[in-house]
Amino acid sequence: MVREKWASRLGVIMAVAGSAIGLGNFLRFPGQVAQNGGGAFMIPYFIALFLLGLPLMWIEWTIGRFGGGFGHSTAPGMFHSLWEKNRFIKYFGVIGVFGPIVIYLYYVYIESWLLGYSLFALTGKYNGCGSSEAMVAFLHGYQGLEKNQFFSGLSTAYLFFLATFFLNGVVLYFGVRKGIERVCKYGVPILLVLAVVLVVRVFLLGAPDPSHPENNVIDGLGYLWNPDWSALLNAKVWLAAAGQIFFTLSCGIGVILTYASYLAKDDDVALSGLTAASANEFAEVVLGGSLVIPAAYAFFGAASVAAIAKGGVFNLGFVTMPMVLKQLAFGELFGFLWFLLLFIAGITSSISLAQPAIAFLEDEFDLSRRQAVLAFMAATFILTQPAILFLGQGVMDELDFWGGSVFLVVFATVETILFGWVFGMERAWTELHAGSDITIPRPYRFVIKYVTPLFLLTILGCWLIQDWLPILVLEGVTAANRPYILFTRLILIVMFLGLTLMVRLAWNRRQTREAHNAR
Ligand code: PFF
Repeated sequence: MVREKWASRLGVIMAVAGSAIGLGNFLRFPGQVAQNGGGAFMIPYFIALFLLGLPLMWIEWTIGRFGGGFGHSTAPGMFHSLWEKNRFIKYFGVIGVFGPIVIYLYYVYIESWLLGYSLFALTGKYNGCGSSEAMVAFLHGYQGLEKNQFFSGLSTAYLFFLATFFLNGVVLYFGVRKGIERVCKYGVPILLVLAVVLVVRVFLLGAPDPSHPENNVIDGLGYLWNPDWSALLNAKVWLAAAGQIFFTLSCGIGVILTYASYLAKDDDVALSGLTAASANEFAEVVLGGSLVIPAAYAFFGAASVAAIAKGGVFNLGFVTMPMVLKQLAFGELFGFLWFLLLFIAGITSSISLAQPAIAFLEDEFDLSRRQAVLAFMAATFILTQPAILFLGQGVMDELDFWGGSVFLVVFATVETILFGWVFGMERAWTELHAGSDITIPRPYRFVIKYVTPLFLLTILGCWLIQDWLPILVLEGVTAANRPYILFTRLILIVMFLGLTLMVRLAWNRRQTREAHNAR
């Protein structure tokens, strides 16, 4: 089968930037900042960017292009190409197909809320909500967590889910070049323009309440940008910052490996990786940091920002932001632009989460793209149901915990060690610079070989020591929710074992074929 290739350099950068720029930039990032004490978060954040995010970006672009040269688009085959003598390493690669699916299972559903909310904004459906409490009730009604005057069940949310799920399928059906690349090439610039328009509007808010001049946009920015060095001693903040860097850059999960596998051997990876990462950081700290936080700060004051964020992960984006925007002139329009921005950011990311699984079926089982997309859609359609139906029982949080944090760190650790130690730093550095338009500063050789893996192992170690037991025994989970969480874990285990078995089958098939050809 002929492997697809990106149509242009700009195209692949836009696709990776599209994957990276997502709900993580505009919803998760401000939420993390607010929950972790504003400026206290930003120092570990930037350190994690330079010592984890950027190195991983380069590692993944390089391994991806390298593995693509052997006809592999996903981690099992790539890891095998990097360490041919080891029979087990391909099974570590399973995480690179499994992890993105796990995130996909809840990400698409949240994305569909944004489609719904953009229409609600435009039609003024939530305009009657006079208070944050009413807006929360609106959200909970929509999510099916309660029946109220706004919604009597899940049907509206379900319709928007079906539409969003289908739309993702259509883009994927068109493939890498005609589907993903094209959507991102238009989607990313559009979402950046929308974000700039909204940032300008937020900056014009000034100090909306004359009796509280201290509640203003500039101080809201200060909340984010005034560093607080004392937080460096708090391990939790470090974990949160590292987790955010991975999530926002789409790193440590296998997605970038897959995208980079569609590059040609002599395509640059060093500058392209850096460009995609920079675009994401611009969208995150400059644009994402200048929307919900300053807006919430100006309207509700310093004390409320953290309280709102702690009250619920979606409150800043789905409650506070629409509350602020609907009070403005042309409020419907601004609300619409906000949710549309998020929806576009979401879809350019969710398609990237689907692609590794699809590529895995294409490469390792010789399915046509259409068959692979249909198989992926059928499987994920069933697997998304628990997150939709049992949102209130914590299924989504459980998926996010494993897919969006734990596996990311484990996978990143494996990749980094494979790259710097097994493949070997000398070869790794040469491979990274093959066809490259820039030379990466030499200290990064040291960082990639020693600092990044040590950093990752420390995170993993701290996490294991502190958390493995409470997590295993479901500490803090109510008795009523336990069956749901256990069921979610069971599904995850079955999925993981299923994929492991598929890798085994694929390799057996290949061996048989090779033996056959050799005869
Ligand atoms: N980077 C995306 C965001 O910030 O929303 C989320 C994401 C996409 C995470 C793809 C991981 C991934 F592989």
